[in-house]
Amino acid sequence: MKVRKAVVPVAGLGTRFLPATKAIPKEMLTVVDRPTIQYIVEEVVASGIKEVVLITSAGKAAIENHFDYSFELETYLAQKGKFDLLREVRNISRLINVVSVRQKEPLGLGHAVMVSESVIGGEPFVVVLGDDLVDAEVPCVYQMLKIFERLEESIVAVQKVSLKEVHRYGIVEGEEIEPGVYRVDRLIEKPTVGATKSNLAVIGRYCLRPEIYDCLHRTLPGIGGEIQLTDALDMMRKERALYAYEFKGRRFDAGDKLGYLEATVTFALEHQDIGGPFKEFLKGLVKNLD
Ligand code: G1P
Repeated sequence: MKVRKAVVPVAGLGTRFLPATKAIPKEMLTVVDRPTIQYIVEEVVASGIKEVVLITSAGKAAIENHFDYSFELETYLAQKGKFDLLREVRNISRLINVVSVRQKEPLGLGHAVMVSESVIGGEPFVVVLGDDLVDAEVPCVYQMLKIFERLEESIVAVQKVSLKEVHRYGIVEGEEIEPGVYRVDRLIEKPTVGATKSNLAVIGRYCLRPEIYDCLHRTLPGIGGEIQLTDALDMMRKERALYAYEFKGRRFDAGDKLGYLEATVTFALEHQDIGGPFKEFLKGLVKNLD
């Protein structure tokens, strides 16, 4: 079963970044020199997937335009002889085929995935959340696809978080069956303190069998009155196996101001042109901190 498509929900309002996101989608906020959504798409492409299904809402046209061919801009750059920039801009539109589907009401992540059903059909697919940027030697999605090839069951990516933080995530309870791979026995969306002893938090990478749609159709609104993907997955693990995978890499919550800054600094330090000078700048800054 080959995974050919990625679903990327981008319908959220981005209220955590207001007023910056009043007129631009949060997915277009820049980390160093690229909008966050481009990091997501590059991870997907580096994992061998070329079809991206964006789940959008009103006001998100900038994301579609970003991955589209821009005749005016490309003509201008060619005329001015700015061939390096032209190559960069062309690469973006050549990265992937994008299909957009509208999520007509903000009914939750589970609902966002459900609206992709008509374009995904009966194939396995990955879901990649735009807020979660992963810095990894081997792309996180690729790591998951390798495990999916072997186990042929749905997989959620997890990382260990402190017990104080579990209430911010979907939490997995399960048994480690091989290093870094857990058989999921239970999934709880944003548990209250004491509701679970596990600290295995789901981050925004899922590799799903198409049976998830049937579970989503049967999932009732959960926490926050929303259709939760976590609840549909908890239903699915009762009907067939579900695994959690502790990916190798560092994840940033780019939907949060501090996480966004951490991602910016990390990716800036790794940047081939500005990494060196930026490191010098930081060293000077740190010296002057008390
Ligand atoms: C969503 C999921 C949650 C997961 C998180 C990862 O929550 O519902 O299970 O742990 O993404 O980022 P959100 O952050 O959208 O509230």
